Amino acid sequence: MVLQAIKGFNDILPPETAVWQFIEGEFRRLLDAYGYGEIRLPILEYTELFSRSIGDDTDIVEKEMYTFADRAGRSLTLRPEGTASVVRALVQHQLMKVREVNKLYYLGPMFRYERPQKGRYRQFYQLGAEVFGEASHRQDAEMLVMLARFFHVMNIRSAKLHLNSLGCEQCRPAYRRALQDFLAGRREDLCADCHRRVERNPLRVLDCKHPGCREVVAGAPKILDYLGEECRRHFHGLTGLLDEVGLEYEVDPMMVRGLDYYTRTTFEFLAGDLGAQNAVAAGGRYDRLVAELGGPSTPAIGFAIGLERLAMLVDRGQLPVDRPFIALLGLGEKAIDRLFPLRQELARAGVPARLNYRQKGLKNLLKKADRDKVNYSLIVGDQELETGVAILRNMESQEQRSIPLSSLLTEIVEVFNGHQNQ
Ligand code: HAM
Repeated sequence: MVLQAIKGFNDILPPETAVWQFIEGEFRRLLDAYGYGEIRLPILEYTELFSRSIGDDTDIVEKEMYTFADRAGRSLTLRPEGTASVVRALVQHQLMKVREVNKLYYLGPMFRYERPQKGRYRQFYQLGAEVFGEASHRQDAEMLVMLARFFHVMNIRSAKLHLNSLGCEQCRPAYRRALQDFLAGRREDLCADCHRRVERNPLRVLDCKHPGCREVVAGAPKILDYLGEECRRHFHGLTGLLDEVGLEYEVDPMMVRGLDYYTRTTFEFLAGDLGAQNAVAAGGRYDRLVAELGGPSTPAIGFAIGLERLAMLVDRGQLPVDRPFIALLGLGEKAIDRLFPLRQELARAGVPARLNYRQKGLKNLLKKADRDKVNYSLIVGDQELETGVAILRNMESQEQRSIPLSSLLTEIVEVFNGHQNQ
């Protein structure tokens, strides 16, 4: 039997990897400009970290985690997201003592046992960032403007911002009660999971995908009507700033997100052209989580972008072309041997080059060089070895000129530099 990768786990192959590198490079550049530093996190954590932060009643913790016991019998989980680990690291290394405001970004694979389909995988990649120690609505606005900027740099116009506020521990209880009262009268239309959720965690009902539940939820009370004074001011401060900078958004009062840790601002960037899995980025504020995981009370906000989904939206035409600058065409064993050290020297000089190791006729070699769209070909056969002069051919203009074998490296580097400066 031929071995296959696990369902929902993908290989990313060239040329697709070039798209990923492009995205990752632009992401790092932008986050640097906004003063974030990179954090690299373990992929495995104690299960408790995720159940305590994401929430026991969420789909992620209830159904989607890759959890297993290690050889010592401890329960470990492949991380389903990055935020919990960043908070764990912040608390563990007491980063709040080092800096008042910590801005961290990460990229890497996450794991969720979801039903694989287009845009949804069991191993998927996130580009994420978290800011700790800044409670101002201006930080929320800065993060959203930064994300919008990122989509702009990627030339993605279809991502639309959806916004909500989930209130705080002061205003949430009143909403929770109102929602429970509303749902209690419609129990028979809710799915079995939601029967349980009404008591334990009624906000989760708003996020249920079950058609019956969705219908019930459409008429439910809206959290925005229950926000206290402070939360209302925070939300209006944020939308006011977004209006000022001209970043468009849609307020979506039913958006609760699939994780329990959020307070106040939550957001998603939805891209219509992605189909059913249309959230390309999402996040929000979580002002209580650091304290809940044992750290000092610290406001926080963050987001994560789904790399596969973003890659689907990137127009390949804008990528830098990746092709050898020059093909060294050796005709015969002797010529190939003569070109071998030159190929290594060109690599050292940073000139992308290629050398054939198989013996083929000139016509064949030129045809391949043409197909691969190299800029130049260098032709060396027995005759050139004898006369001590090779032929350099511009593949576009088809002009040819002679170069002494003794000065191949300097001449080619010169042509390459001239081409780069064009
Ligand atoms: P999330 O909404 O669970 O949030 O995931 C963020 C993004 O990851 C989604 O919008 C989507 O693009 C991508 N994503 C999620 N699941 C999958 C999947 N199975 N396959 C492909 N892509 C997927 C979080 O993870 C939070 N940690 C975001 C955050 C950071 N909140 C505060 N800070």
